[in-house]
Amino acid sequence: MKDQKHIFLIGFMGSGKSTVGKLLAERLELPFLDSDNAIQEKTGKSINEIFNQDGEAAFRAYELDFLNELQSTEKSVVAVGGGLPAIDSALELMHQMGLVIYLNTSLLTLIKRLKEEKEMRPLLKDLNDSEFHPFVEALLSERVQFYKQAKLIMPNERNSPIELVDKLEKELNKLII
Ligand code: S3P
Repeated sequence: MKDQKHIFLIGFMGSGKSTVGKLLAERLELPFLDSDNAIQEKTGKSINEIFNQDGEAAFRAYELDFLNELQSTEKSVVAVGGGLPAIDSALELMHQMGLVIYLNTSLLTLIKRLKEEKEMRPLLKDLNDSEFHPFVEALLSERVQFYKQAKLIMPNERNSPIELVDKLEKELNKLII
């Protein structure tokens, strides 16, 4: 465990990875990285623009590049996009580079949160009310098999982000990172 580097937060869109990741990084005095932000900075495009102009496959390639580049960066807390763990070989790479934590949030909570913030998410922004629930449900059930391969599974439901960070800090101390 001591050799492990990064702390990865994985989970579905809307599971709180960025909010919790920032706070956890502050608590552990580590840098915070977010794959979506890094890709936007590198390409000079928003995630919506990348999907529209270059296509989803190009976005997934950027995500994999982001992950590969972490091999030569200092230890950080890293929040990754909800689809990244489903890319072939990505989870294996994350396990090699650090500790993978799944923020597990229920379907209904995700739907409630995501309906309010769907505009910035290309996979969701064009769905109407009747399409929204079945789409999120199907994508989540496809992705759960990847998320569940995390070393630590932390529910993120009714707690505040700070409460979750307290819990995570305790779990990490047990693992003596
Ligand atoms: C995606 C999740 C998003 C972003 C992109 C695709 C996905 O990140 O990478 O819109 O496929 O689940 P968040 O999980 O941070 O919303």
